Amino acid sequence: MTTNELLLAVETSCDETSVAVVRGGREILTNLISSQIETHEQFGGVVPEIASRKHVETITVIMEQALKEAKVSLRDISAIAVTQGPGLVGSLLVGIVAAKSLAMAYDLPLIGTHHIAGHIYANQLVHELVYPSIALVVSGGHTELVVLEREGMFRIIGRTRDDAVGEAYDKVARALRFPYPGGPYIDRLAQEAEEEIVLPRAWLEQDSYDFSFSGLKSAVLAVINQAKMRGETPMRSALALGFQRSVIDVLVEKALRAVHAEGARQLLLCGGVAANRGLRAALAARCESEGVPLLIPPLSLCTDNAAMIGAAAHLKWKRGEFTSLDMKAEPTFSLEEWSVRV
Ligand code: KG4
Ligand code: ZN
Repeated sequence: MTTNELLLAVETSCDETSVAVVRGGREILTNLISSQIETHEQFGGVVPEIASRKHVETITVIMEQALKEAKVSLRDISAIAVTQGPGLVGSLLVGIVAAKSLAMAYDLPLIGTHHIAGHIYANQLVHELVYPSIALVVSGGHTELVVLEREGMFRIIGRTRDDAVGEAYDKVARALRFPYPGGPYIDRLAQEAEEEIVLPRAWLEQDSYDFSFSGLKSAVLAVINQAKMRGETPMRSALALGFQRSVIDVLVEKALRAVHAEGARQLLLCGGVAANRGLRAALAARCESEGVPLLIPPLSLCTDNAAMIGAAAHLKWKRGEFTSLDMKAEPTFSLEEWSVRV
């Protein structure tokens, strides 16, 4: 079934305030993103209190601007979609209160949406999805392997046991004295590297699809400390390459193993770390050689944005699954429970 509804989507789960207007879950009329990175950069990470305050300052302005750019009025909107979780509770609340107010004032349905479902369905804004498929979610807060049995049905088969990939990137970058968020710096440095400091791979138990990155992060810190004790400066690019290769090897191997074991017809890569050039290239090469179609959203849809929330909320709109106006922010929202009912 196709529908042509207009969703006003709101995303404030971390440090981006974003509002989008999406038609039929696929067509982006506008997708405005106001990033707070410059504010948090000086603290070396996201400060939750400041993030909430910044969302409050920005949300109404960006909502008005989004409607204006999309050339629609609130009377044209079919429903309001908002990230319900997971994320920082204070940040989520700002978007939720704004969305609820509009839903109430204009008598519109509300769709509380799962942030990771958003990252996954960002792919639907640019690609045709077929099922079953596997999604590899790699972001600052998440590292998950998800089976999509059919549209909107999520089953998590692997997750990180400690740090998320993006988090590990940011921590390693910080140890190498790069600003927050450090992922892109490590990626760039790894591309330029001529040597590699080979680091261990955390495969875990033989059949496990889980991940662990904290041991690798500690291995990087140990190399840096040993260099310092010898009075040397650590070889940043060789370390960046060693770290990146270790991360990528494990991600690629487990993702492809899951694709074959689940009989998946596609592999979807999503989340902020999908911007990583090394990961994109390694996955593309492996998928090509094994005949697996690989879908990756454009970079602007990989990092947090509201259009992806509109794309995921569309699944619920189609089925008339709306959220009650007394819904709460869910900092640890379960993706599997957010699956569509029918
Ligand atoms: O999905 P996202 O925008 O926010 C979360 O929902 O977490 O992901 C942000 C994460 C940060 O940790 C950032 O360092 C990482 O994505 N990232 C990268 C790259 N670009 C962004 N990590 C590695 N290589 C990159 N090129
Ligand atoms: Zn995200």
